[in-house]
Amino acid sequence: MNLILMGLPGAGKGTQADKIVDKYKIPHISTGDMFRAAIKNGTELGLKAKAFMDEGSLVPDEVTIGIVRERLSKEDCNNGFLLDGFPRTVAQATALDEMLNGLGRQINHVLYIKVPQEDLFKRLTGRWICPTCGSSYHEIYNPPKVQGKCDKDGSELIQRDDDKPETVGKRLEVNLEQVKPLVNFYESKGNLRNLDGNKEINEVFEDIDEVLIGSNQ
Ligand code: AP5
Ligand code: ZN
Repeated sequence: MNLILMGLPGAGKGTQADKIVDKYKIPHISTGDMFRAAIKNGTELGLKAKAFMDEGSLVPDEVTIGIVRERLSKEDCNNGFLLDGFPRTVAQATALDEMLNGLGRQINHVLYIKVPQEDLFKRLTGRWICPTCGSSYHEIYNPPKVQGKCDKDGSELIQRDDDKPETVGKRLEVNLEQVKPLVNFYESKGNLRNLDGNKEINEVFEDIDEVLIGSNQ
C-alpha cells in the first residue's frame, strides 16, 4: 500500500499518520519530521532547511525531492509507505511519479484531509508535541493524559518554533497557494480521496480506514 497524506498545515496529517502506520505497519515518511531531525542533529540538510522552515516557507524542491528519493530506496519501503507532507508542489508530485515508475510502483491513494481554514490556526497554535517520539497533542482537542507529558513515553511536551502565531499565518498562505494545483494533479489521475477532517480524530480515522480496507480486499 503506497499512500500519500495531504492537507494544509494543522489538518491532522501527523495525527492520522500515527494511526495508519500503527494498523498497517508501513513506514511513516514525514518530510517535516526529517527536516526537524536534521536541524536537531546539525547536519548539512538541517542547515539548508532551517531558514525556510523558520519563516514558514517551503524548503526548495530539489532538496526535498532528494531526501524522499533516498528514503524511498530503503528496504523497509518495499511493502508500502505513507508519505506525510510530500509532495507539496506539482514539481514534487511529478518527481515522485518518476521515482515510482523507476521502481515499477504507483500510488494507491492520496488521502486529502480537508479542514476549514479558520480552524487550522487554532489547531496549530494550541499544538504540543513530544520531542522523543513525535506524537502530537492539542491543549483542548486532544490533551495528553497527564498535562505537559507524552502519553507514550512521559517526555516533557514542547511547542514547535513554527507554531508561533506570526509564522502560522505565513505557512497557511504558502501552502494554500500550492494545494489547488496539487489537488488537480491527483484528481486527474483518479486517486484523490477527499476526507472531512473537521470531525473527531477517531471519526476521521474511521473514514480513512474505510478507504484502506476497501482497497486491501
Ligand atoms: P510539516 O511538519 O509537514 O508541517 P505542516 O504541513 O505545516 O503540517 P503540520 O505538521 O503542522 O500539521 P499536521 O497536518 O501534521 O497536523 P497535526 O496532526 O499535528 O512541515 C514543516 C515545514 O517543513 C514546512 O513549513 C516546510 O518549511 C518544510 N516542509 C515539509 N515538507 C515539505 C515539502 N514537501 N516541501 C517543502 N517544504 C517542506 O494536528 C495539528 C493539531 O490539531 C494538533 O494539536 C492535533 O492534536 C490537533 N488535531 C488533529 N486532528 C484533529 C481533529 N480531527 N480535531 C481537532 N484537533 C485535531
Ligand atoms: Zn512521546
